[in-house]
Amino acid sequence: MENRLIIFDTTLRDGEQSPGASMTQDEKLRIAKALERMRVDVIEAGFPAASQGDFEAVRAVAHIIKESTVCGLARALKEDIDRAGEALAGSNSTRIHTFIATSPIHMKAKLRMDSNQVLDYAIRAIQRAKKYTDNIEFSPEDAGRSDIDFLCQIIESAIKAGANTINIPDTVGYNFPDQFGKLIRTLIERVPNSDKAIFSVHCHNDLGLAVANSLTAVINGARQVECTINGLGERAGNAALEEITMAVRTRRDLFSCDTCIDTTQIVPTSRLVSGITGFPVQPNKAIVGANAFAHESGIHQDGVLKERETYEIMRAEDVGWHTNRMVLGKHSGRNAFKSRLHDLGIDLKAEDLNTTFQKFKELADKKHEIYDEDLQALITDTHLTVENERFKLLYLRTISEIGEIPKASVILSVDGVELQAESIGSGPVDATYKAIDFILKHEVKLTLYSVNNITSGTDSQGEVTVRLEKDGRIVNGQGSDTDIVIASAKAYVNAFNKMLNSISRNHPQV
Ligand code: KIV
Ligand code: ZN
Repeated sequence: MENRLIIFDTTLRDGEQSPGASMTQDEKLRIAKALERMRVDVIEAGFPAASQGDFEAVRAVAHIIKESTVCGLARALKEDIDRAGEALAGSNSTRIHTFIATSPIHMKAKLRMDSNQVLDYAIRAIQRAKKYTDNIEFSPEDAGRSDIDFLCQIIESAIKAGANTINIPDTVGYNFPDQFGKLIRTLIERVPNSDKAIFSVHCHNDLGLAVANSLTAVINGARQVECTINGLGERAGNAALEEITMAVRTRRDLFSCDTCIDTTQIVPTSRLVSGITGFPVQPNKAIVGANAFAHESGIHQDGVLKERETYEIMRAEDVGWHTNRMVLGKHSGRNAFKSRLHDLGIDLKAEDLNTTFQKFKELADKKHEIYDEDLQALITDTHLTVENERFKLLYLRTISEIGEIPKASVILSVDGVELQAESIGSGPVDATYKAIDFILKHEVKLTLYSVNNITSGTDSQGEVTVRLEKDGRIVNGQGSDTDIVIASAKAYVNAFNKMLNSISRNHPQV
């Protein structure tokens, strides 16, 4: 497309830096597939030098993704660049994204370097990255608070050294739209070789301005926006992909460029990311919130019935609402099941397919219409996403009766040994969790418990997310079932499995 606005999604990297949003490799693969289906141009799959797990996740994403470019983040250090290069090796289309801070406060307090040293590190990193790919992105971190003369100097040198995308981060979300737009325009005008690179922006949302700043930058010449699904990301998050995409598409009168995003994939992808990370989408969130297209007032409803455009500037179906199709039912066979999973980007090994098909049949007996969302939940729930699953829920019975104290009886398999416990609680979920705690005897803090219905109706599956914290480590567990007490127990056990598998990792910006 001429005058294309490149969409660079960093849900798997900056998004994963949100406390509590860490994902397993399989979860990352599912999100990467959904992003590819949505036709995202570049997927930043992670920070390979952070840990062995991050390295392997980037490698796995780079191998499975064919249509989007897969990018790995690296500090401007030889070891980081080599790790990113190794993780991306042998894949279709790859990019190395290297960065170093350029603001006075970051150079002095964090890096303890002067501007000449920073310049030197940046150039060496870009030259090293050329060993692995021609597609190199450079970010002067905290550009939004950097000196403009130094920015022009380092960007010119970065382009000379081989960077073909220059990303301008407002790392701490400090800029205002006019100011940020002017910064982008000034850089493009003042850097003598700016025509040899695409200018990109990466805005954080600390003052709620990430989307506004990114869009103003596009009006001023940026041709790549870095964003995340649901605006996930470090602290207050990044610019939301769905808002950027729909703003540009809806206000064609203001933009001389457009994205290649298949917008009908927006809502399903938003739900997938929210389910996996346990970060619920607020009902009034633009585009993907449950109320984004709901009209409550009688006057509005009447207007929309007469002429949709009286109160709607976008069509709900264009962003993937109401696409809930009944895809499968209890008479669907194994092939139909396998092929629908394939369409959703999920290809299972033979033994996993057997287990999941069995679970699908059990679900179809309880719930006659099975939607894509049910299938996604089934995959999450089958716990294919946890390697070395040590704990399994084998049995659960709860008693809840008006006027009586709720009771739960639980049997878990712990490293292959069956253990049983009973407990009372303030409700059936509380009693179940107490019984599980009694068996597992791990001191963890439950920081989130949330239940959502996956589709509508009382026969819908409930999807439960729990977040556990222990010694600074945070994990999310998910479980789904048409019985929400069982879903709650599955989510709790899933979180324990993840907690024992989680490993410590470095943070890119430290
Ligand atoms: O916010 C930031 O500056 C970043 C960089 C690594 C681009 O995430
Ligand atoms: Zn960032």
